Order: sequence, then structure tokens, then C-alpha cells
Amino acid sequence: MIMKINNKNNPVIVERSKALSGIINTPSDKSISHRALILGSLCIGKTKIHNLLLSEDIMSTISALEQFGANINVNKESGITTVHGFGIGGLLQPSKKIYLGNSGTSVRLLIGLMSSCDVCVEFEGDQSLSRRPMGRVLEPLKEMGLEIISNNTNNLPLKLQGTALPIPINHKLLVPSAQIKSALMLSALNIRGRSTIIETIKTRDHTEKLFAYFDADIEVKKNEVGDKEIVINGQKRLSRREIDIPGDPSSAAFFVVAALISKGSKLRIKNIMMNPTRSVYIDYLISMGAKIDFINKYSKCGEEVLDIEVTASELKGITTSLEDAPSLIDEFLILSVAAAYAKGESRFCGISELKVKESDRLEAIINMLTLAGVDCRTQDDDLIIRGNGEVSGGSSIMTNYDHRVAMSALILGLGAKSQIRIDDISPIATSFPDFMEIYNRIGGNFHSG
Ligand code: S3P
Repeated sequence: MIMKINNKNNPVIVERSKALSGIINTPSDKSISHRALILGSLCIGKTKIHNLLLSEDIMSTISALEQFGANINVNKESGITTVHGFGIGGLLQPSKKIYLGNSGTSVRLLIGLMSSCDVCVEFEGDQSLSRRPMGRVLEPLKEMGLEIISNNTNNLPLKLQGTALPIPINHKLLVPSAQIKSALMLSALNIRGRSTIIETIKTRDHTEKLFAYFDADIEVKKNEVGDKEIVINGQKRLSRREIDIPGDPSSAAFFVVAALISKGSKLRIKNIMMNPTRSVYIDYLISMGAKIDFINKYSKCGEEVLDIEVTASELKGITTSLEDAPSLIDEFLILSVAAAYAKGESRFCGISELKVKESDRLEAIINMLTLAGVDCRTQDDDLIIRGNGEVSGGSSIMTNYDHRVAMSALILGLGAKSQIRIDDISPIATSFPDFMEIYNRIGGNFHSG
């Protein structure tokens, strides 16, 4: 099932909206959806996944896993996906190139997966993915035996030969990235012996939690200097599990901020996963003055999940800490929109990783806000935004194949005095296919541009 990204331009113009209202269900978490599919493929027999996110990025992972030999059946009506796995180390040699569209998580995690198996794989992606750095995953994996066959050593397209005789990994993460950590962990699953991965700055912990849930031989502890140490003994058979995927806090963030900045709004947003490595943006918004009420609390996939009610609020500036930067990495864009509508200075510390996302998001924030009349600049590794409570707009924004730039610009336009044009909203389908339907239903004011 190959599904190429729809690169067809789809421009829209957003006008200031009236008060937003309604009830929204958060789409399923993208990070957990990728991992559930991969772990299901590493089990022998059938894994049942409830509420898998059906977005373009996830379709890329599905089609790659099918090429490695998994049998995956998506039933949209029932919301149940079944995965018949190939088991640890059981990857088949793909017969053609593996195209992963826009999805950085797919390519980095799958490089980890194939690195400790005797397969030769050619990975390709779209224009945006082909610009993103892969050396950060390849370098540590070269030490366990992965071979780079292509001339490219940092960017797609890449031709890689996994090893049949992998050496255990012993690596301290140089970049705080859950994708690198997860790639090494997936590699370690098929390495005989004990691999150790050390994390000094906290990143999302879904892989650790799911490894434990699927019965991998994993131990997570603090070492003598207080860093997180993940120890995996490889080549242990996993146990099949049933998994229900909670809502993606990073997707919910767009509508949380939409309600906060559009005067008179009240939105109920259901099914937000409150994993502390993902939902810290909600704490920052509350510190900015956001009125957010927690309505229902339940649990899915070992994670706390909340329904919340968000009321339009007067916001003030905020400083985010350096150590929270990886836990806010997907929210800085939409937090910058909140900061633009806030009164006073906001400072986001440690933002350089934004430069290597689906687009250069640091440049995207500066362009998006400056063109809309907001005072915004960088200082060393920090981003500073000076809001005065309103945004002029009257600007045109390029999304550069970046779903979160498109969604942030659509939210920015909801409260701006003059209309904002967005050159292409088609990348939104990579993570949040229903975004425009929800945006329209709650009162977003837009037309084709
Ligand atoms: C992700 C990790 C983050 C995040 C991305 C998804 C994951 O990337 O930005 O959207 O699922 O592991 P990095 O780990 O590269 O920071």
C-alpha cells in the first residue's frame, strides 16, 4: 500500500472568526501509532490496534512494514487494525525501494529496525524529508555494524545494509531526540547481549513504555550521575498485546490555542494524552493565563487521558526552560501563536532543533509572525516574541511541506485584524486529516485562496 504525499498546492485565505464553539475529539497519537505498528510487526501472530491514526505518515510506516513482510489490515469502520507480524529479526528483504513520504519518525525508526537484520534497504522520501539529517541515527548505528552503501551519508535517498552479526550498542545520546533513542532501541531488540542507551535530557518515552508492555527485556533506571539509562537484552520474543491509542496532545494543541485567542470562544476537547513528556505545553499555557478546565480523566495504553474545556483568555508572556525544549518541540510553533496574542515578552529557550524539522521551523515562526506584524527575534539559542495582545495579519505564509506550519498559520489567522493567506494546506494530511473539517465546524472562517 504505497501512498505518495499529495504535493498539489491547496491555498486558503483565513479571515478573523467569530467566537469558536463545539466539541472536538483529538485524533490518535502519531508517535504511538508508528510504534504500535512496528511492535505489532515484531510479534509472531496477530496484534490488535484500536484507534490507529490514519494519516499519511502512518500509511508510510504501514507500507514499509508490509514490504518487510508484515500483513496489516486497517478497518476504518470498526477502528481496528490488525497486524500479523514477522517477529524479531524476521524482516524480509524488500523487493523495491521504501518510500516514506514526509515522515521523519518512519525513516529513523525503520533504519533502527533494519540495522540489526541481514537486509539491504533503499529509503526515499519527499522533498522535505530528503533535506532532514539522518547522520544522527546512522553514526551510532554504524558502530553496531550498519553499512552505508550509498554515497549519501546524511540525507535520503539512502541505501543501507543491515548486519547479521550486530554488536551490542553502548551509546550516550548527543542530541535529545526520541527518534534517535527509539532507532537504537529497535536495533537493540535483535542484538544478542546487553545494549545500553543513555539519555541526559528527557525526551518522549513511548518506546520505553511500549517495550515494557510488549514484554521486551528492558530496564530503565537512573545511573550514578542521574542520567536515564535504558538497558535492553536483545533477541527475546515479544508477547502479543492489544493496544488502544490515546489522543495526540500535539494535534490538540492547535485547537487549545484557537479557543484561547478567539474572543468569546469555548471549546471542549476530548481525549488528550497527558504524558508529561508531551503535554507540558498545557502547563505553560495555564501559566500564561489560559483558562483550561479538566473535565474527565481516564486511562488508555497506560497513559492518563483528559477531556478539557478551554475558554478564551487574556494571555501574558512566558519563559520556557531549556530542559523542557524536547518536550515542547512539536508545540513551539503553536505556542508562538499564543505568545503573539499574549501581552508581554515570551522567551523559548533552546530552540535550535526547530531548524531540522519538516521545515526550518525557526525561520517559519520568524517569517509567520514578523510578516503578520509581531515583534519576534532570536537571541543565541532562544526565541523572543513580544506580543501586544493583537496581531495585524495581512500576510502571506509559505508552509514548505510542513503540516504544523500550515495548522499554526490557520490558527494565527483566526484572530488577526486582516486576512492571512496560506500557500498550501495539503501537508496537514500527514498528521491530522480531519483538521479542516473540525476548523470549519467550530467556526473557523476560511475560503480557498
Ligand atoms: C517524534 C519525536 C520528535 C518529534 C516528532 C515525533 C517521535 O522528533 O518532533 O514529531 O515520534 O519519536 P525528535 O526525536 O527528532 O526530536
